[in-house]
Amino acid sequence: MRLSLRLLSSVVQKRPFYITTPIFYVNAAPHLGHLYTAVVADAIQRFEKLTNPDCNVIFSTGTDEHGTKIQQAAAQANLPLQNYCNNISQEYRDLFDEFEVGYTDYIRTTEERHKRAVRHFWKKLVKQDYIYKAKYAGWYSVNDEAFVPESHTREEITKDGKIKVSVESGHQLEWTEETNYMFRLSAFKTHLQEWLKPDGVIQPSKFQKQLQDFLASDAYFPDISVSRPSSRVHWAVRVPDDEEQSIYVWLDALINYLTVCGYPDEEQLMSRRAWPADVHVVGKDILKFHGIYWPAFLMAARWQPPRRLVCHSHWTVDGSKMSKSLGNVVAPRSVPAPAALRYVLLREATLADDANYSETKLVNIANSELADTLGNLASRACGAALNPRHELPPPHAHELRDVARREPAARLLRALERLPEICHQHYSSYQFYKGVDAVIHVLHLANLFFETMKPWELKKKPEGQKELDVVLHVTLETLRICSIILQPIIPSLSGRLLDKLQVPKDCRYWQHCERPSWRIKGAIFETKNIQSGKFVLFQRIYVDKKNVQKKKAIV
Ligand code: MSP
Repeated sequence: MRLSLRLLSSVVQKRPFYITTPIFYVNAAPHLGHLYTAVVADAIQRFEKLTNPDCNVIFSTGTDEHGTKIQQAAAQANLPLQNYCNNISQEYRDLFDEFEVGYTDYIRTTEERHKRAVRHFWKKLVKQDYIYKAKYAGWYSVNDEAFVPESHTREEITKDGKIKVSVESGHQLEWTEETNYMFRLSAFKTHLQEWLKPDGVIQPSKFQKQLQDFLASDAYFPDISVSRPSSRVHWAVRVPDDEEQSIYVWLDALINYLTVCGYPDEEQLMSRRAWPADVHVVGKDILKFHGIYWPAFLMAARWQPPRRLVCHSHWTVDGSKMSKSLGNVVAPRSVPAPAALRYVLLREATLADDANYSETKLVNIANSELADTLGNLASRACGAALNPRHELPPPHAHELRDVARREPAARLLRALERLPEICHQHYSSYQFYKGVDAVIHVLHLANLFFETMKPWELKKKPEGQKELDVVLHVTLETLRICSIILQPIIPSLSGRLLDKLQVPKDCRYWQHCERPSWRIKGAIFETKNIQSGKFVLFQRIYVDKKNVQKKKAIV
């Protein structure tokens, strides 16, 4: 009894793994870039669960709903602000459901629990004397919701005359003079440098270096304005005890990561034990807010900074930055193969450099890798023509040894046995594309093995039966291992393949892919059944070029 109680309490007290996406502005409908941030975070959390089945994952996402640009967007849509926010926030939820972003917590900055957290955090900063009032004048970008120092601006000539834009984002700036509350960011330079010292705090390292360089080179490291006049930004959380001022939307938004853990309710926080967050996934455009401002705010409020930021680069479309004015914004649900989009996003992009999207690329990758290399191999190895009894036959030690001596079987077996470790390394360093590449390489070898062994000929000869069993066993085992590894990338497609192979749900963890059946000591093989019936994992896509052209013209 005592033992079980102790066990129970250790389960209760186990720290969760806490991962977040940025919360998304509701000023426009979600696009491919937004989805990308979310699927990167989702793949990380799925890999965590795969390797650490007992782990309690908190995976938060949500929407960022305050500020000038939301005010403007709602006015343009001619909708009351809250209704407008509800609609777009719901679009994000629908998007995440469709693309298998398995969040556990959805947070909106207009929720009461969050506003309470923001006010509490503000008071804490005031109490610690990190906030003061001052006159502020500078260039403000509504689009980035940030002041931009003069040195980071340039002039641009447009049809309406000369304008100022931000060098970093290219967004238009407005000269703004107002009384604001300021945050003593300048007090945190050394603390931030310390926090950024150990390798791996920001991944990939390129982005950590960027922040280190920014802190090292910029002698100019001023305090920042953390409020706006309520007369201008009325759709925001008011500064406690000063109705005239609204809290800066970035401070408001960043606090969402604490709200999700139950902040400011100490008891909830203790019971969830989620802070500091294990991973914040962010795009490179918002690195400074997460890698400089956020840790400084936290330190000022006596909270630990996050353990790690995973930063990704951007998606361009047909070689250009996605933008409304170029008319090239990709809505994830309107692509020719939504079911393959998640795969392509994770398979193509490296975190460190921008990736380029095109419909042709999506269709080609989906057809060649999902339909042909993976799907077609599964259909053939499970199909009635070669596997009429729908089974996973035993590998017959003698015949397996004989087959394994020949090429290309030898290469396949070698690669398959090394695959889990290689993928583990790549996934652990968030290099999903490298993991998928290794899987596809093994699947190419498996296809070559299958072709070379000519199972359709073995089937015709009575003395070929055992060798046919070996071909089917090795192929189905390859498919089982690859499907387990692909779960963070294509959860439901891998799930369908594992269902087809009748792999029980509790045998789909990482530990179950680490060794192929013939490498498990003392294993006794019995013929196992797989699901009967025709199996098409992924239907090839045939794009009607004329239709695509027409669709583009209408948009
Ligand atoms: N609301 C802020 C984040 C506050 S978090 C406390 C915000 N929202 S956003 O909707 O503009 O961006 C959300 C995420 O989408 C960011 O990580 C951003 O990098 C990502 N992307 C937006 N466009 C993108 C691409 N073209 N490509 C890849 N990701 C991009 O910033």
